[in-house]
Amino acid sequence: MNNIIKSVNLIYYSPTGTSKKIAHAIGDGLRVNNLKESDITFGNNKVTDFTHDSLTIFVCPVYGGRIPPIFFERLGSIDGNDSMCTIIVVYGNRHYDDALLELKNGVSKLGFHPVAAATFIGEHSFSRDNMPIAAGRPDHYDIGMAEHFGKEVMDKITSVPLLNDLYVPGNFPYKEMKPKQPVAPISTGSCCSCGLCISSCPTHAISTNSAGSIITDSNLCTLCCACVKICPHGARVFDTPFTKFLYENFSDRKNPEFYF
Ligand SMILES: Cc1cc2nc3c(=O)[nH]c(=O)nc-3n(C[C@H](O)[C@H](O)[C@H](O)COP(=O)(O)O)c2cc1C
Repeated sequence: MNNIIKSVNLIYYSPTGTSKKIAHAIGDGLRVNNLKESDITFGNNKVTDFTHDSLTIFVCPVYGGRIPPIFFERLGSIDGNDSMCTIIVVYGNRHYDDALLELKNGVSKLGFHPVAAATFIGEHSFSRDNMPIAAGRPDHYDIGMAEHFGKEVMDKITSVPLLNDLYVPGNFPYKEMKPKQPVAPISTGSCCSCGLCISSCPTHAISTNSAGSIITDSNLCTLCCACVKICPHGARVFDTPFTKFLYENFSDRKNPEFYF
């Protein structure tokens, strides 16, 4: 640790694990001991106190060009205590639109002072084997960039005495959040009711009925597709025309961006 930062918190929401990978790589790049990790995906990992001499790394996926509301719900009413933070969004190679700005404004309201920001690319939740969208990302290059970002953040904090207001791209009013349709992934014939999908669901939308079959509450489902990605038999399916649209229009590789 250094003279200014006494503790570091790593906080992420990550149903399909790409934001988690980026968070870990940034954490490695910071090169600090006693990093406190809070995976808030399932809402049972209490976020710790934030002293004024702490640094917090927030990492969140982009949904519809925005921060998924569940991210701030999971954070709850925390007090950043005017401490420094960095904000990172992970998106599926389409665009992050207003998500980074929304994250900046959201954590600022909670009493944090954002000093750096970054965007990274993760395999799109709707990516499928026959229509891959950013498949396999974050890859080796992305992980190296995330470690580099962590190092740059620490270098900046220790070398720049006055930290200016951080610019990040985005517009306000934010991109409109479309009302969620009552759709959800379904379990198909090859389902053996192993229950992995049940435990992977951040909103507890999946359960078994009295006959032992897997059922999904589409009102609770956020379409994160964690259940689709975790199913060892390919039995969880979410068919959406977006997959083809994204595959056809957003397959050109995008790269991470840093803002200081
Ligand atoms: C409901 C939903 C909406 C999404 N919207 C966007 C989007 O607007 N732009 C984009 O590039 N990716 C979008 N994605 C893809 C995710 O941002 C991307 O897959 C991310 O890596 C998932 O993070 P995770 O692995 O931490 O869950 C969306 C994914 C879901 C489930």
